Amino acid sequence: MKQYTVAIVGLGGRGLDCYAAYQKKFPERMKITAIADIDEKRVKYTREKYSVPESGCFDSAESLLEREKLADVLIIATQDRQHRAHALKALERGYDILLEKPVAVTASDCIEIRDAAHRAGRAVTICHVLQYTTFYRTIRDIINSGVIGEPVTVNALENVGYWHQAHSFVRGNWRNDQIESPMILQKCCHDFNILCWLLNKQCVSVSSVGSLKYFKESNAPKGSAARCVDCKYAQTCPYSALRIYIDNKDVGYRQGNRDWPCNVLVKEPTEESLMEAIKTGPYGRCVYRCDNNVVDHQVVNMRMQDDVTVSFTMTGFTAYNYRELKVMGTLGEIVADQRLNTVTVTPFGGESTVYDINKIADDLSGHGGGDNRMLTEMFDALDKGGVAASSIDDAIAAHLIAFAAEESRLRGGENINMAEFEKTINAG
Ligand SMILES: NC(=O)c1ccc[n+]([C@@H]2O[C@H](COP(=O)([O-])OP(=O)(O)OC[C@H]3O[C@@H](n4cnc5c(N)ncnc54)[C@H](O)[C@@H]3O)[C@@H](O)[C@H]2O)c1
Repeated sequence: MKQYTVAIVGLGGRGLDCYAAYQKKFPERMKITAIADIDEKRVKYTREKYSVPESGCFDSAESLLEREKLADVLIIATQDRQHRAHALKALERGYDILLEKPVAVTASDCIEIRDAAHRAGRAVTICHVLQYTTFYRTIRDIINSGVIGEPVTVNALENVGYWHQAHSFVRGNWRNDQIESPMILQKCCHDFNILCWLLNKQCVSVSSVGSLKYFKESNAPKGSAARCVDCKYAQTCPYSALRIYIDNKDVGYRQGNRDWPCNVLVKEPTEESLMEAIKTGPYGRCVYRCDNNVVDHQVVNMRMQDDVTVSFTMTGFTAYNYRELKVMGTLGEIVADQRLNTVTVTPFGGESTVYDINKIADDLSGHGGGDNRMLTEMFDALDKGGVAASSIDDAIAAHLIAFAAEESRLRGGENINMAEFEKTINAG
């Protein structure tokens, strides 16, 4: 079994906490030989923790990519808008690549990267981690078994969760499509990818409606302040930074959480350092007074091949952060709930069978075990000269659905034919 050498650019939540950590679990499979981040503390921390040679440490992805190839695989975990330049340069250098989603923030850049990957003949795996989870693989196995007949229609719900909406899409990195990208791309390229993969069908046309309805100044409670620490509603507003990062029963510091989202405010949080970040940083701003413009709810209707339909809703207005899915077939239905971690299949006129993923899965860490399994399957595929399940072609098809949905939303819900859409991008 080959041990792959790996270079990682972007040592944040994904590059460091998730991908570098794989080396600790499977040292026989992966050895980090080069790293890059503009934050020198992160480079130092990663170098020490994973014994990366000094000569393999760089102060940016750009300087790492100036060098000849330094590893078998390059993991690109920089921010969305940097992916294009980093991926194109990495292909030029001859790396096989694990590339974070979204692949890029415009449809034409996505197509450019896909075509460059084809020309370079490199294996490019996109981090559509859901495809590697026991949860979704169980649903796919049930569909493929034929027990529900032919799937005809799907209802899918992306419950973003009220605090995750506030953290990432109102106060945080993905709040503004001019700074990063439309929320339907950032949050839901995963969903479109998984829906096409589950149904084994391409999307023929898309229409979408949605808006930023709530998180704007006109909805600020009377007498509320610009920062939560100064606000008279700090203990009652559900979106209060104090309630989310300090007290929240699921993710608050006082409940013992030291990871996401608290470690986005401060790398190694203490209550004092979190309070300081809330007092002075972007994550302590009033949710009604941020520079956000991305939607807080959006519905996408998809017509798939063979007259199969999908109705998909993404919403920030939910108590919890998870996905739900109902697949309705000619002979039965599947109801899947990621929060309960169950998949229930009911053939019409028959008994229900409940698959409890907590009992079936051997790994439920990072994205329901998807993060680790993706790396394992990528290395397994490279052994055979191939690419893992989440190929760039399928990923770009999913990204284009997101771009088309956004275009439809901006055009008041107009129906967009996917083949025409891709042609206009190629022409443009
Ligand atoms: N697959 C998933 O489910 C999933 C989940 C979360 C995030 N993401 C994606 O992963 C990517 C990284 O997200 P994150 O949460 O780790 O972000 P992050 O901000 O925690 O990490 C990004 C890192 O890149 C570094 N960086 C910035 N410019 C750089 C440069 N020029 N060279 C090298 N490093 C540079 C930053 O200093 C930071 O450490 C994003 O594209 C994000 O959308 C994917």
